[in-house]
Amino acid sequence: MNRTLLAWEELSQNLALNDISEHFRFIVSSLKQYLVDTVEHLTLATALYIVICITLYYCIVKWKLFVYNRDPRNAKRILFIIAHPDDECMFFGPTILNFTKRDNCLVYLMCLSTGRNYGMGSIRKNELYNSCKVLGIKPCNIFIHNHSNLPDAMDVRWPTELLSRLISQYIDSLNITTVVTFDRYGVSNHCNHSCIYYAVASLILDRRLPRGCGVYVLETVNILRKYWLLLDIPLSFIFSRFRYMGGFEDRKILHRAMNQHKSQLVWFRRIYMYFSRYMLINSLQQMNLVDIELDLEIED
Ligand SMILES: *[C@@H]1O[C@H](CO)[C@@H](O)[C@H](O)[C@H]1NC(C)=O
Ligand SMILES: *[C@@H]1O[C@H](CO)[C@@H](O)[C@H](O)[C@H]1NC(C)=O
Ligand SMILES: *[C@@H]1O[C@H](CO)[C@@H](O)[C@H](O)[C@H]1NC(C)=O
Ligand SMILES: *[C@@H]1O[C@H](CO)[C@@H](O)[C@H](O)[C@H]1NC(C)=O
Repeated sequence: MNRTLLAWEELSQNLALNDISEHFRFIVSSLKQYLVDTVEHLTLATALYIVICITLYYCIVKWKLFVYNRDPRNAKRILFIIAHPDDECMFFGPTILNFTKRDNCLVYLMCLSTGRNYGMGSIRKNELYNSCKVLGIKPCNIFIHNHSNLPDAMDVRWPTELLSRLISQYIDSLNITTVVTFDRYGVSNHCNHSCIYYAVASLILDRRLPRGCGVYVLETVNILRKYWLLLDIPLSFIFSRFRYMGGFEDRKILHRAMNQHKSQLVWFRRIYMYFSRYMLINSLQQMNLVDIELDLEIED
């Protein structure tokens, strides 16, 4: 009885003395616990997101599940318009592969320059032919321009009117049903890319495209999404209606095509090859008169 009382007194004294430090320790420890919990939850959420992305990828490319996708209507003769040799595999790969695999579709490619020239024009031209061979585009369906009015430079805007006339000629003479090109941000805000958009937009505005010819532009995503590879799949699914995804085999083909552009394979393009979502998934947007008018109004 006595012993218990003594012990009790001692304890309460200690408690009084240690009251403040005890409080403090309690706050620190709960804060620590909170941080640990938060980090745990974030890690868990990230892991879960990655697992979802990988599962989604497998479901789509392997088991052909969830491919609810819109497809350009009546795509019989499709024309891809790019600015430089290597744009075709760096940006449009999954889409091109989807269409070259179809029996009822002719794929054409129009390239508006031979790249930064430094006397490499003919090398890059050959590289483009080789890369297209890997992708399944016939040599006779490839049109490469080396127009002296289309200098390959970042600071010189390509003349829109001349470009639209050139593009319009091809669309008419090939009886093109579907055009695919860059959107107005041109993937990397490269003005040679967006110039093509403006040229095609002016064709639509002036109603110079044949009836029924659909124009689709490659959606530019922000730099974070650009290098997210698989992790961009859910976002692309939420935000886009026309999507083309490359399977395992497609990725190998795209890497092989990219390897044809030997003169361009510097280290950052190699990194790009492995991490860019454009080499895995393309999302397109149909371009129509209302969107273009809105775009132009925003710009004014
Ligand atoms: C091409 O895309 C369509 C629809 O977007 C899809 O149904 C089809 O399976 C794809 N083809 C290939 C070979 O991936
Ligand atoms: C493109 O044109 C330039 C001059 O305009 C010429 O020097 C170059 O050889 C040409 N390249 C090809 C591939 O024809
Ligand atoms: C693209 O265009 C600009 C000028 O508009 C030019 O300086 C540049 O060299 C071109 N080509 C490339 C590959 O950047
Ligand atoms: C162009 O294609 C359409 C259908 O896709 C066809 O009806 C028309 O005859 C073709 N025109 C020419 C000139 O080949």
